[in-house]
Parts: sequence; structure tokens; C-alpha cells
Amino acid sequence: MSTPTLNFSPFIIGTMRLGEWGAKMTSAQLEAFVEACLELGLKDFDHADIYGNYSTEADFGKLLQQRPDLRSKIQLTTKSGIKLVSENRANHTIKSYDSSKEHIIASAEKSLAYLSTDHIDLLLIHRPDYLMDPHEIAEAFEILKTSGKVLHFGVSNFTPVQFDLLNKFTPLVNNQIEASIMHLNPFEDGTLLQCQKHGIRPTAWSPLGGGTIFQESDDPKITRIQSIGKAMAEKHGVQLDQLLMAWLLMHPAGIIPVLGTSKLERVKDAMQSLKLKLSREEWYVLWKASTGEEIA
Ligand SMILES: NC(=O)c1ccc[n+]([C@@H]2O[C@H](COP(=O)([O-])OP(=O)(O)OC[C@H]3O[C@@H](n4cnc5c(N)ncnc54)[C@H](OP(=O)(O)O)[C@@H]3O)[C@@H](O)[C@H]2O)c1
Repeated sequence: MSTPTLNFSPFIIGTMRLGEWGAKMTSAQLEAFVEACLELGLKDFDHADIYGNYSTEADFGKLLQQRPDLRSKIQLTTKSGIKLVSENRANHTIKSYDSSKEHIIASAEKSLAYLSTDHIDLLLIHRPDYLMDPHEIAEAFEILKTSGKVLHFGVSNFTPVQFDLLNKFTPLVNNQIEASIMHLNPFEDGTLLQCQKHGIRPTAWSPLGGGTIFQESDDPKITRIQSIGKAMAEKHGVQLDQLLMAWLLMHPAGIIPVLGTSKLERVKDAMQSLKLKLSREEWYVLWKASTGEEIA
């Protein structure tokens, strides 16, 4: 049987801040949050082995054990390849990257167990490993695919050259990158263009700059985005977060933001941003607010 194609919902729910590294949701809170996201039509949940100091996948897995009916409604992404020094991984002596065949397979097996699932929908190499051997990664992916344990594969934080190299050996369906009004690099360094060239939807982490845009700051970039953005948001009758989300969504690569909020209201607000259409000039006004300079 051929693997079904991977279609993301319009936003992905990031889990990094739901557990130990953020909201510390109880099982009941997590269940309510997940169910509400599903009701909104958001089926994608983004994990990594390391989130919550290697604990957040297990929190989610407990929910799936209690509510096995949810699994078929959910699409699970997880990541592998960063090794944190942690009391939960006593054998790690330095923060490092590991994209060896052994580590990718062992890490995916652990994720399957923690998430309490028989398959992962999408496995990403979390960050490019300086010692990356594409043959080895391709071999690991093949073993995980043939066994039915992982359906699709991708990368995160890969430059276009790194993506091209690995994609030559194994088909990649996603590059999850940092992209927002606060982080413009992928708009300029060819990352988004490459996604367009390959017809793959890029997913964007920290789509609201990790929340920095909403905090009091003496960084002129942030204060410019706040003042110019708030005035434009008011003109459209929306909130600043919705305006900045619409700005990201406007790129023709079809960016899918990975939301970091643990608040359902903010997920609902993000959904409303799908309806907001900015003019090209407004897009450039916000670009200029970020860079502080007129374009060439
Ligand atoms: N691939 C990678 O290397 C990588 C790296 C980092 C993250 N990720 C993934 O990307 C996801 C999102 O990243 P992120 O959490 O940095 O995204 P983000 O959505 O840019 O930031 C989320 C933070 O902003 C706050 N926030 C959101 N909307 C706000 C508003 N309107 N007003 C005030 N504060 C607001 C949230 O607080 P509240 O909870 O209070 O709303 C939260 O602390 C993560 O969960 C993870 O799945 C991937």
C-alpha cells in the first residue's frame, strides 16, 4: 500500500511550551486543549524528543493511552538529532547533534514508546549535524519507513544546500524553519524559494518571534514593529498577533505556522488571521518596520 500524502492543517500546534518547558498542563488541561484544537480543524501536533527535557512526548502519550480514539484524528510530527545534557539522559556529556543511523532509529523508537503510538506521521532531523552523512540518514529513514514506524521524513533548520544534499538520497517533504517578522533570513537566503521550487509547504517555528514582539522592549526593531504594526492592525480591526500572522501567511510559499501558544483563545485568534488580506504595500511597510531600512 502506498503512503498517503502529507497534508498539514492551516496551523500546526507546537507542543514545546505545553509541558515542562512552559504551561505545565495537567492531563485534563492537555486533553481539553487537544480536543478544542481538533474541533477547530487543527490536527497537527509538533513534538521533539527533547521538549520538556525529554518529558513532553510522554505527557502527550499518556493522553493517547487514555483516549486512543484521538490517535486517528491527529497527525504527529516529532524530531530527532539534538542530544541535551539532562538527568533524563545520563550518557550525554555535552550538548551535541547526532544524525547517525543508530541514534535516529533509537530516538524514533523512544518517541513511538513515549507518544504511545505505533507510527509517527512525520519525523524531522531537528538541526543539521556538522557530521551529517546523508547515506546514513537515508538508510535510517528507509528502515523506519519499511517497518511502518514513520510515514514521512523531513528536516528542520536546514539551509538550501543541506536540504538539497539530503533530498538527493531520500525524499524530504518538509523543512521546518524559523520565520517571522522578527526573523527574515529565509525570505532572503533561498530557503523559501527552494520550498516553492520543490512544491513543499514550509512550516515556520516561532511565527510570533517566540512572544518577544508582545513584550516591553528597548530594542528599536521590536518597538518599530509594535508601533507600526499596532496602527495597521487597528486600521484592519484586528490584533497585532493576527496582523503579523497574516503577514507570514501572505508569502506564496504557503508557510504553515507552528503555533507556540498554550492558550486556546490565541489559537482561535490565529484562525481568524486566515481571513485577513494585506496589500503588497502593507506587507512591505511591515518588512521595513522589521529591518529599519527602505529596500534597495
Ligand atoms: N524546529 C525547531 O528548531 C523549533 C524551535 C523552536 C520551536 N519549535 C516549534 O515551534 C513551536 C512554536 O514556537 P514558539 O513557541 O517560539 O512560537 P511563537 O508562537 O512565536 O511564541 C509562543 C510564545 O509567544 C507567546 N504569545 C503568543 N501570542 C501572544 C500574544 N498575542 N500576546 C502575548 N504573548 C503571546 C506565547 O505565550 P502564551 O502561551 O501565554 O500564549 C508563547 O510564550 C514550538 O512549540 C515548537 O513546536 C521548533
